Amino acid sequence: MTQLKETTTYLQGKITTQPQIGLILGSGLGMLADEIENPTKIKYEEIPGFPVSTVEGHAGQLVIGTLQGVEVIAMQGRFHYYEGHGLDAVTFPVRVMKELGVDKLIVTNAAGGVDRTLEPGDLMLITDHINNTGQNPLIGANVSEHGVRFPDMSTAYDRELQQVAKQAAEKLNLTLKEGVYVWNTGPSYETPAEIRMLDIIGGDAVGMSTVPEVTVARHAGIKCVGISCISNMAAGILDQPLTHDEVIETTEKVRESFLQFVKQLIQDIG
Ligand code: HPA
Repeated sequence: MTQLKETTTYLQGKITTQPQIGLILGSGLGMLADEIENPTKIKYEEIPGFPVSTVEGHAGQLVIGTLQGVEVIAMQGRFHYYEGHGLDAVTFPVRVMKELGVDKLIVTNAAGGVDRTLEPGDLMLITDHINNTGQNPLIGANVSEHGVRFPDMSTAYDRELQQVAKQAAEKLNLTLKEGVYVWNTGPSYETPAEIRMLDIIGGDAVGMSTVPEVTVARHAGIKCVGISCISNMAAGILDQPLTHDEVIETTEKVRESFLQFVKQLIQDIG
């Protein structure tokens, strides 16, 4: 049995629902999973084939159940490349979600604002991304049962789901900015010169996640919608150093509107 099959069979033995929407919850945004009803919670370290999360502030469990009447599977905490996991490991949960029946994925993250019209606390709909790392989770032999060798990325973020997200924000009277997310590996934050470069090449926000998961999701034919919480202005924009504490503080401040928004989004998608 392949690892993917083993993991899927293990999880199927624990759940009674068939999740439709996958949720990946970024730094400081994991509390959404606490609102899932009739939850089955399974710690990553108990799941065969799952890597183990290492960073503080990232709880590591899958939460499977119902949110807004929709069957969901949430990653409360994700795996990051900078933790030392290979991209296979980082994206393995997305493959598992696909096997469990997920066809839509909501990805969230905390990101630094590159575009000067963004402000800490903003929610930004990801309209597209730039992989600035030279890494790709699909490097290596292609497994044709999973997807094609050269997947299309022209609609990495599904247009219809973007519309649904914008309407969800309108319903809640919430300002939803839009922009292009840049993936850097981290874990060091960027230099001011790097941020000037990212601005020039078309980036609006920068972070250390999301792109690997979305790349694999698209390979697997899963439709994606992405939301960044702008937790800080990127390096050099303000005259102050960046800290992880600031990232967490800001995500805590927007917790309530973020929760409301993603719940509305799930209801409207489901
Ligand atoms: N840069 C990279 N990743 C981040 C940032 C940032 O400024 N803020 C939150 N994640």
